[in-house]
Amino acid sequence: MLHKKVDENLDIDRVFDSPAEDFDVFIRIAREEDIAVARQMAKQLAQEAGFSLADVTKIATAVSELARNIYRYAKQGRIMIKKLLDDREGPYLEIIASDNGPGIAEIDLVMTRGYTTYERSLGIGLSGVKRLMDTFAIYSEVGRGTVVITGKRRRKF
Ligand SMILES: Nc1ncnc2c1ncn2[C@@H]1O[C@H](COP(=O)(O)OP(=O)(O)OP(=O)(O)O)[C@@H](O)[C@H]1O
Ligand SMILES: [Mg+2]
Repeated sequence: MLHKKVDENLDIDRVFDSPAEDFDVFIRIAREEDIAVARQMAKQLAQEAGFSLADVTKIATAVSELARNIYRYAKQGRIMIKKLLDDREGPYLEIIASDNGPGIAEIDLVMTRGYTTYERSLGIGLSGVKRLMDTFAIYSEVGRGTVVITGKRRRKF
C-alpha cells in the first residue's frame, strides 16, 4: 500500500492547476452542498464503470470524506475522478482530492485512526478512505496544500 508524505516528484500547485478536461468528473468544493454533489457524481461514474454495488458505495464514501476534509480544513479545493484502463488489471477509478489550504504538519499522525484536530469529530476519515480503496497516497506541505490520490480496481464479479 502506497503511503507517502511529500514527494519531490509531486508538485501540489501543478496538481491544483490540472485542467478539468483531463477528468471524467471535476467538482469544485467550496460550499457544504458540494460534498453531496461530489458523492453523487462519484457514485454515478462508478456505477457506469460497472463497479459492484458494494464498491460503488465504498468509492462514494471515500469521495465524500475527502470532499468534507477539503471543505472543513481548506475551505475550498477540487475532487477529480478519472476512469483508467489498465490492460492487465482492468478498469480502475482514480480520485484526486486537492486543495491549496493550510496543509498538514502532523502528516505521520493524520493517518492514525482517531487522530483529529476538529472538535467532536472521530478522526476516521482518512484512515477509512485508505481502508475502503486499493491504493492511497497523501502529499501535504504546510502553507501550500494537500493532495490525496486514491484508486480502486474493478473486480470481476
Ligand atoms: N485537506 C486537508 N487540509 C488540512 N488538514 C487536513 C486535511 N484533511 C485532513 N486534515 C487533517 O487531518 C486530520 C485527520 O483527518 P480525518 O479525515 O482522518 O479525520 P477528521 O476529519 O478529523 O474526522 P472525521 O473525518 O472522522 O470526521 C484532520 O483532523 C485535519 O487536522
Ligand atoms: Mg475527515
